[in-house]
Amino acid sequence: MNEAHADALVFFGATGDLAYKQIFPALQAMVARGVLEVPVIGVARSGWTVDQLRARMADSLREHGGIDQAAFDKLSSLVHYVDGDYSDPATFTQMRETLGSAKRPLYYLAIPPSMFGPVAEGLAKAGCAANARVVVEKPFGRDLASAQALNKILHEHFPEEAIFRIDHYLGKEAVQNILYTRFANTWLEPLWNRTYLSHIQITMAESFGVQGRGKFYEEAGTIRDVIQNHMLQLVACLMMEPPTGSTPEPVRDAKATLIKAIRELCPEDVVRGQFQGYRSEQGVAATSTVETFAAVRLFVDTWRWADVPIYIRAGKALPVTACEVLATFRCPPRSVFGEPTYDGMNHLRLRLSPELVIALGTQVKKPGGTMAGVPVELEVMRRDRLAMAPYERLLSDAMHGDATLFARQDEVEAAWEVVDPILGDVTPVHEYAQQSWGPAEANALIAADGGWHDPLAHEPAVQEATEPEATTA
Ligand code: BG6
Repeated sequence: MNEAHADALVFFGATGDLAYKQIFPALQAMVARGVLEVPVIGVARSGWTVDQLRARMADSLREHGGIDQAAFDKLSSLVHYVDGDYSDPATFTQMRETLGSAKRPLYYLAIPPSMFGPVAEGLAKAGCAANARVVVEKPFGRDLASAQALNKILHEHFPEEAIFRIDHYLGKEAVQNILYTRFANTWLEPLWNRTYLSHIQITMAESFGVQGRGKFYEEAGTIRDVIQNHMLQLVACLMMEPPTGSTPEPVRDAKATLIKAIRELCPEDVVRGQFQGYRSEQGVAATSTVETFAAVRLFVDTWRWADVPIYIRAGKALPVTACEVLATFRCPPRSVFGEPTYDGMNHLRLRLSPELVIALGTQVKKPGGTMAGVPVELEVMRRDRLAMAPYERLLSDAMHGDATLFARQDEVEAAWEVVDPILGDVTPVHEYAQQSWGPAEANALIAADGGWHDPLAHEPAVQEATEPEATTA
């Protein structure tokens, strides 16, 4: 094990939902890959024993990908459990004892942000903060002021380089592929600017509702839940300048510079929606004005991107679960073959989920006697299975001390600055039918650029059904 590698993994919130859905499967996969061989200490205040934690782990794995018996047995032998209240010093004393001779632990705070302060302080007072790293979950604050306050609390006990802020979108293979495809090829870069691109749009659609997380959603809403973090990080990966190196800081510098150049949102650039029935969800107020859908129009004030609108729509209870980016190129300068318009015919389509697709929308000649075209897509890449789940990737990186895929404080604050002016009820919330594409007002936002792209439009079955005639003579 090299010096930078953590020699213990302690996770707070071990009996919680996130551990059940994401962390146990990630830990088993890490053990199976041979990158997790150190003690794993779960901490929670559920009055459990370590055997109960192991049983919970088994249930989690049965539901999320299955048990790999050899890896599971090994993980079970690495697991410890510390029970106690996060504000009780005895919890940290017991944790310190369980850590034994570990000198460089990684603490993962899979707990509500209101507990970050007490836990950071508890760790410091028990002498557990030195040489340690801490991974914190999103949401990192609920606006700029609270993110700054949270940061101040963490910085009292941990230096910035020891703080790893998770945005699981950055751990997605498809998101890393955006950077790779942009900067490991020659063909794209000369076209990737305001001269050739007319606009970029992102749809992050989920066909399900709030899935019993009504109470959480009431505190968040779509803008806080996914736009401030996942979507703006995605914008940064799509639009940042080439980093000057592949170590964490040049990459994070380039991303931070881009996010800092995003203009603050104003009410005219935002449409909020709420699906019908949301107010009857458990934990939701009968008069709630929290959004379950948001569409925004952004501008990035840099030389490369001046006046190129970026449209983002994200929401729950939409017709499909998919995340797709469409970058539309400007039309050719003249219609040489007399066709009415070429506008919007060339695009780069990046499908990030459920599968990974990179496709270049191109016009080719329809076979036959006339110079008439047909749109086709050249598929640069399609992959159905992701190599590593985001949490597996991110936890492995944090154990190694590699912060490249974690958000730095200035990025997080810059992202809050973008959305801060439109949080809450600054704009009205419009009702929309479940399984529709959100309120009609969202269409007006993008009308000047030809409307929203439907992620269902490029499903293979749909393409076959709309295949044009082969000849036209
Ligand atoms: C989470 C949000 O951060 O991301 C959820 O809190 C959302 O509301 C989820 O459903 C989407 O992530 P993924 O990886 O399933 O697309």
